Amino acid sequence: MRNKLIAGNWKMNKTVEETAALIGQLKSALKNLPPSVTVVLCPPFTSLTTASGAITGTVMKLGAQNVSQNDDGAFTGEISARMLVSAGCEYVILGHSERRQYFGESDKLVNMKVRKGLDSGLRPIICVGETLSERESGTTEAVVADQVKGVLAGLISGEMEKVIIAYEPVWAIGTGKNATPEQANDVHRMIRKLVGTLYTPSVAEDLLILYGGSMNPQNASSLLAQPDVDGGLIGGASLKSDAFSAIIDAAIGSSRH
Ligand code: PGA
Repeated sequence: MRNKLIAGNWKMNKTVEETAALIGQLKSALKNLPPSVTVVLCPPFTSLTTASGAITGTVMKLGAQNVSQNDDGAFTGEISARMLVSAGCEYVILGHSERRQYFGESDKLVNMKVRKGLDSGLRPIICVGETLSERESGTTEAVVADQVKGVLAGLISGEMEKVIIAYEPVWAIGTGKNATPEQANDVHRMIRKLVGTLYTPSVAEDLLILYGGSMNPQNASSLLAQPDVDGGLIGGASLKSDAFSAIIDAAIGSSRH
């Protein structure tokens, strides 16, 4: 059985001081986390070192929100995978729709970043998802399938053990309008089936597929109860300790079934 994973995508929020304060609150809220649920915090780059120190000795893990497709060198403003590892990261979010929309990231670029992340030992959380107009025109499956094939290009079965996919319908991100549990599960099932044809049925069976897009304490239980929803990538609700820990509680509840 697949474990649940709840990742907090803090986006461009929280100073160093605010990071320390939020992790302090999460530490008291998450004392008795069972091994069936993994919690990953993805603060901005400037907070990684502080967060790494603050989560030491807890069950929380650290992730970044992006990585360069290049190794260390003359790339002003960029951060390499090696730097993320040395800052304490085990995970990295890649291909988030905000990166695709505002910074022009293509599947090809995301694929290069996935390669760099894996080569440095990071677990990539790779985001895919359709826009509202793509959903309304009935092309969700085709769009998401193309993205999945593009971002996974060249990866071998052994590497897929490290890969996590996050299905995040663009129309649900930060809008308060989440996909219904059935809508989410339909796309997750399609992704799993596709990965089964690209690799093997057992790679597909073991793949963690997270849902992201306005997941909150009210809707988390029903989304996480779906058979192909293995966790959540949480934006807004990860910025407050009570909301984030309530979602983690929902994951604990659903992992018992
Ligand atoms: P949201 O963001 O939970 O605020 O919708 C999710 C995400 O962008 O990863």
